[in-house]
Amino acid sequence: DPQNLQMEDAGTLRRLDCRAKGGASGFKVAILGAAGGIGQPLAMLMKMNPLVSVLHLYDVVNTPGVTSDISHMDTGAVVRGFLGQQQLEEALIGMELVIIPAGVPRKPGMTRDDLFNINAGIVRTLCEGIAKCCPNAIVNLISNPVNSTVPIAAEVFKRAGTFDPKRLLGVTMLDVVRANTFVAEVLGLDPREVDVPVVGGHAGVTILPLLSQVKPPCSFTPKEVDYLTDRIQNGGTEVVEAKAGAGSATLSMAYAAVKFADACLRGLRGDAGVVECAFVASQVTELPFFASKVRLGRTGVEEIHPLGPLNEYERSGLEKAKKELATSIQKGVSFIRK
Ligand code: NAD
Ligand code: LMR
Repeated sequence: DPQNLQMEDAGTLRRLDCRAKGGASGFKVAILGAAGGIGQPLAMLMKMNPLVSVLHLYDVVNTPGVTSDISHMDTGAVVRGFLGQQQLEEALIGMELVIIPAGVPRKPGMTRDDLFNINAGIVRTLCEGIAKCCPNAIVNLISNPVNSTVPIAAEVFKRAGTFDPKRLLGVTMLDVVRANTFVAEVLGLDPREVDVPVVGGHAGVTILPLLSQVKPPCSFTPKEVDYLTDRIQNGGTEVVEAKAGAGSATLSMAYAAVKFADACLRGLRGDAGVVECAFVASQVTELPFFASKVRLGRTGVEEIHPLGPLNEYERSGLEKAKKELATSIQKGVSFIRK
């Protein structure tokens, strides 16, 4: 009923106006790919996040239904839906954080790199929109292969003259979430008490858990190190095989994405000491991009932590990771420069 809609619009405007007058209370966040397997639970969890004042849900299908559904939750964020390429710009204007889980997921037998041909073009289009409509937004890139899509995004932003390495972050949080879970299982601890740094990238051997730096301090047998490293590196494949053709991790990913987005928003708000792992433009190694612990602040990535002391097992893992990462990064860069 158009009259109802008008009443809602007027109420929403009144609320947003009130907020603007009362000082900033919450951030404007867009999710691109919001109707997907990750997008839907991610949208629900972001609607529950008190740091979010406006939530834009964009996809090329099904956003009206997802938006209608989520907008009935009695939490603070105002939700708006956007459908199809012609509404991309409207979805992005004014956004302070853009989370991108758009793109196809793996099926059994595929590598993340097998998704490159489809997802590279999707990420390019979405990042062109960001460069045009919200060039100062923090971007959380989830679409695979992350090791290539982050370099693609960087190249798009460079071309547009808007690239700021502090504001582009590949989301590797799921690797940390898995590592915390699997390590806690082995140690017999509550996963909430465990902190495992995971560095490198987000695919197979590029996922490098630093088990020598686990908090609380602990030690593992060589067998445990082999088991944990293999399980963390292949956690994604474990889910892809269990889902048997119905996609890859969506629920744990939505959880990880919200954990990471919330850290970015706390940083933007000015909280001190917000540190998480992410795949960013980096000088920690000779590669142009690398995942490691970063401190998040008002301008995005404000400090990139060094890797810290590695043992021999980790040093050898680092060499393997760097070799594969170099190829994946180059593939992303060439996709735009070609
Ligand atoms: P999905 O197929 O369930 O959802 C993807 C959504 O993207 C769909 O709703 C689709 O309509 C939308 N989409 C497609 N093209 C689009 C475009 N041009 N603009 C906007 N939206 C578009 O897939 P999913 O399970 O949600 O996974 C999404 C991506 O996230 C995959 O590439 C997957 O590999 C990746 N992923 C990454 C991580 C990580 O740790 N970084 C974890 C899990 C999945
Ligand atoms: C994951 O780690 O679960 C994602 O990257 C999805 C995948 O393809 O494994």
